[in-house]
Amino acid sequence: MAKRVVSGQRPTGRLHLGHYFGTLQNWVRLQDKYECLFFVADWHALTTKYDDVANLASDTREMVIDWLAIGLDPKKCFMYKQSDLPEIAELYVYLSMITPVSWLERNPTYKEMLQEITTKDIATAGFLSYPILQTADIILPRGELVPVGEDQLPHLELGREIVRRFNYLYGDYFAEPQAILSPVKKLLGIDGRKMSKSYDNAIFLSDDPDTIRKKVNQMVTDPARKLKTDPGNPKECMVVYPTHQAYTPPEELALMEEKCREAAWGCTECKRELADRIIESLADFRQKRAEIEKEPGIVDEVLREGLHQVRPICRLTIKEVRDKLNIMKLATARE
Ligand code: TRP
Ligand code: SF4
Repeated sequence: MAKRVVSGQRPTGRLHLGHYFGTLQNWVRLQDKYECLFFVADWHALTTKYDDVANLASDTREMVIDWLAIGLDPKKCFMYKQSDLPEIAELYVYLSMITPVSWLERNPTYKEMLQEITTKDIATAGFLSYPILQTADIILPRGELVPVGEDQLPHLELGREIVRRFNYLYGDYFAEPQAILSPVKKLLGIDGRKMSKSYDNAIFLSDDPDTIRKKVNQMVTDPARKLKTDPGNPKECMVVYPTHQAYTPPEELALMEEKCREAAWGCTECKRELADRIIESLADFRQKRAEIEKEPGIVDEVLREGLHQVRPICRLTIKEVRDKLNIMKLATARE
C-alpha cells in the first residue's frame, strides 16, 4: 500500500512561481507515487489575517483553480478545505491540552515571525498554537509523510513531539509523521528579495505573457554591467541568472554564461529569452486555467469529493481518540 501524504497550503489567492518551485511541483510529482491528501489551510491563513478576511473565500477559490490548472488531478489525489472538517478543530483542542506552552514558544519559526511581522499584532493564542493545528491536520487523517520546505521542519518536529506525548499519555495510537524534504529551488522576486505577494515582486502563474515580459524586464541584473559592451558576470547577476538556472538546461546555460562574460549579448536579449521560457512553461497552465474559469462549479465539486473521501477516516480517528480520552458517550436515545 502506498504511504499516505498530507500537506496543506495557506490560501493567498493566485499562486506565483515561488509557490510552484517551492511546493506545487513536488505535489504534482507525489500524487503519482503516494496516496495524497492536499488541503487548503484556511484556518491557518487566519493566524496572520484575522483582521483582513474580505478575500478569504475568493483566495481559496483562486488557489484551488491554480492547483487544478497546474496538474493536481482529482483522480490522483484528494483535495479539500481544512474548514470543512470540524474534526480537525476537535483534535486541536485535545492536542492543545497536552502541549506545553514552552514547546511552542521556543519554536524558531514562531520567534522569527513575531519579529518580522510588525504591522499587526500576531501575539495571539491562535498564532502561538499554529503548530498544534498543523499537527491535527496531519494526524487526523493518519498522514505518514509530509512534504514541506525547510522552514516548516521545526513545526513538524514539534508535531512529532506532540504525537509522542499523546501516545505516552493515552497509549500508542498515532504514528509519528515524517517529513519529505523535497528539492526546492528558491526563486527570487524581481527585486531580488524572496518572492512574495506582499512584497509586490512576484510573477504569478496566471500572469499573461505581456505581464510576464514586463516583470522579467524589471528584474535586477549584474549592477556593474551598464552597457551592452560591458562584459557581465552571471555570479553578480542578482535575479535574471538565478532564474535562468531554474528554466534553462545546463548546456544552454553554459553558452549563455559565456555570451554574458564576453559581452556577446545584452541583458535585454538575455531577459527576452528568460521570459520566453517562462511563458512557454506556463502555456498548458494558461489554457487549463481558462477552461476551469468557464466552469466555476468545478472547484466546489472537487473540494466536495475530496471531503467525501477523507471525512470517514477523520471521523473514525476522532471516535477512537474520544474513547482513549474516556469522554462519556451518551446512550442512543430511545424512540
Ligand atoms: N504551515 C504550512 C505553510 O505555511 C501550511 C500547513 C498547514 C501545512 N497545515 C499543514 C503543511 C499540514 C503541511 C502539513 O506552508
Ligand atoms: Fe545577467 Fe543575462 Fe545580463 Fe548576464 S546578460 S548580467 S546573466 S541578465
